[in-house]
Amino acid sequence: MTKRFFITGTDTDIGKTLAACALLQAVNRAGWTSVGYKPVAAGCRPSPDGPRNDDALALAASASVTVAYRQVNPVALLAPTSPHIASRDEGRSIDPLVLYQGLRELERLAQWIIVEGAGGWLTPLGDDVSFDQWVVAEQLPVILVVGMKLGCINHALLTALAIRQAGLPLAGWIANDLSSEPHRRADYLATLRQRMGAPLLGEIPWLTEPARADLAGYIHLPLLSGQSVKEY
Ligand SMILES: Nc1ncnc2c1ncn2[C@@H]1O[C@H](COP(=O)(O)OP(=O)(O)OP(=O)(O)O)[C@@H](O)[C@H]1O
Ligand SMILES: [Mg+2]
Repeated sequence: MTKRFFITGTDTDIGKTLAACALLQAVNRAGWTSVGYKPVAAGCRPSPDGPRNDDALALAASASVTVAYRQVNPVALLAPTSPHIASRDEGRSIDPLVLYQGLRELERLAQWIIVEGAGGWLTPLGDDVSFDQWVVAEQLPVILVVGMKLGCINHALLTALAIRQAGLPLAGWIANDLSSEPHRRADYLATLRQRMGAPLLGEIPWLTEPARADLAGYIHLPLLSGQSVKEY
């Protein structure tokens, strides 16, 4: 059975893509096949082949299975803002059916699918639909990436609460350093370890060249691979 995890974060720009790449690389190293999925990307650049998004390209580069760009990122919007605003700019709405179909396609192709959301947990996709509703419909276990900075304790606990209130399992969380400064990191980490009620799956330090780094070693994959999706 395909293992599927949804990656959300305490905020935008806090390391979801980096952590998703780390998970993909850890999965590859453990000998499974992997693919990344960025169903909705807002913040794309035009190219002769259509809009391209850096997150989707990074996920594709860390995956073991090569698929077409549109399979990684079926909804590619130009404006770097919330998807419901970017889609309104382009005069089109985001159809959750497209997200559903994209995931079905990938499930046939890899043993692990790492799905990256957009922004934080409650990101709207349109007037009446938000990303978390799709995650609930798909019953995806969630991994929360915490950007380690002042405010992260509240953001992490609020997000964990919302995930659980939605009835979804919080499979674990990943601590990602957003600065080379110590800035109370150890205190934040200890507080969250005590209060999150889910396993710490990995700690990613501040990296001088994150795009080139070998990220697999930062993830404790057995904490995820020992649990089948059905067991949650
Ligand atoms: N541990 C780290 N070390 C060095 N740079 C980092 C680290 N974590 C994140 N960054 C950098 O911070 C920026 C944001 O990270 P990333 O793109 O992974 O965030 P995100 O949460 O996926 O953002 P978005 O909400 O736009 O999808 C990137 O330029 C990334 O390289
Ligand atoms: Mg990202």
